[in-house]
Amino acid sequence: MDFTLSEEQRMIQQAARDFAQQSCLPGVIDRDEQQKFPHEQALQLAELGFMGMMVDPEFGGAGLDTVSYVLAIEEISKVDASTGVCMSVNNSLVCWGLEKYGTEEQKRKYLTPLAQGRKDGALYLGAFLLSEPEAGSDATSQRTTVEDKGDHFLLNGIKNWITNGSSASVYLVMAQGDPANGHKGINTLIVEKNWPGVSVGAKENKMGIRASDTHSISFTDVKVPKENLIADPGFGFQFAMKTLDGGRIGIAAQALGIAGGAYERSVTYAKERKAFGKEIAHHQAIQFKLADMATRIEAARMLCYKAAWEKDQEMDYSTSAAMAKVYASETAMWVSTQAVQVHGGYGYVKEFHVERMMRDAKITEIYEGTSEVQRMVIGRKVIGK
Ligand code: CAA
Repeated sequence: MDFTLSEEQRMIQQAARDFAQQSCLPGVIDRDEQQKFPHEQALQLAELGFMGMMVDPEFGGAGLDTVSYVLAIEEISKVDASTGVCMSVNNSLVCWGLEKYGTEEQKRKYLTPLAQGRKDGALYLGAFLLSEPEAGSDATSQRTTVEDKGDHFLLNGIKNWITNGSSASVYLVMAQGDPANGHKGINTLIVEKNWPGVSVGAKENKMGIRASDTHSISFTDVKVPKENLIADPGFGFQFAMKTLDGGRIGIAAQALGIAGGAYERSVTYAKERKAFGKEIAHHQAIQFKLADMATRIEAARMLCYKAAWEKDQEMDYSTSAAMAKVYASETAMWVSTQAVQVHGGYGYVKEFHVERMMRDAKITEIYEGTSEVQRMVIGRKVIGK
């Protein structure tokens, strides 16, 4: 067993760390407060090749492994989890599925600019549209419909909680094409945001990851060309599940980053802040908290890197991804809450960053499958269903 990172992986990790410090840290508090999408940061990520990290260079990607991708998301999310999720959705939920299941033509037309993160010099991102007002955890209950009209499809419905909702140019949309067939009637379509009938709702006013761009998207009689169906009719639910298996590794890495950022700030603060005649790091009450934070983060890191490694080995990584996500997200929540406590009153104000990290951590227990859904996935594996 070898736990060392390769030279290339360490270079990616360092590049992401430098990017986070130089480009994400300045203004991160303002972007959170004003809910300002990190447009400049996303463009720079595209420049770095971080928007299509795992995509084959033939289609504009960087051709890196999942472990490198996880390292990059972790480092960026230590500083700015909103930028982390924008990047994670484009890489895992959009580029991965298009590369795996798209036709050659779909890859040339959509994957290449998505992996490059740019088209005609402008930011070019994707979003993944599964959730609906009445289909969250119960993702088979899709009410968005897609009708086959012979020479095109007709799409109608509404999608909720869409990350990159207004900044994306391309949507991967799950929709019910054959209700009698249940989840086996669901299709996935590639839809362009600027097509007639597509409308972007107001930006959600969120508790955390406030700079990320979350909207509802509605479709009214949207004509979708036949060639924009991904894979076979009825494959849409499986497409979503398989894509989310990888997405969950990305969110585990984001959670790991949030936990790591809160922990690093706590160690620094505890070594500077004095109380009762010595640095608080030397009081057992604080030192034990730091020890527990470090231990839980290390455990989360092992689960996360292992899931990424299994994906790279083309093993079945569905359960490992669920384990990594549930453990890393709950670690992020716990560590960031402890970080606020270590900082005392300073932890409760914005300038010290940890209150934002605590707010950001919460969503990692919810999106791309709640902790309860992850436990369903793991539990079914445990009992052999
Ligand atoms: N890979 C491939 N196929 C899978 C699969 C996987 N990981 N998981 C399930 N399937 C298949 C099953 O084999 C089954 O197929 P068959 O009928 O052919 O056997 C089919 O899918 C249905 O599976 P289940 O019977 O297990 O379905 P279920 O209704 O009991 O629930 C679930 C499954 C795990 C709860 C699933 O609905 C789920 O993951 N829900 C959560 C959805 C989710 O993560 N939403 C997040 C939205 S995206 C988001 O947050 C994006 C963002 O912008 C950040």
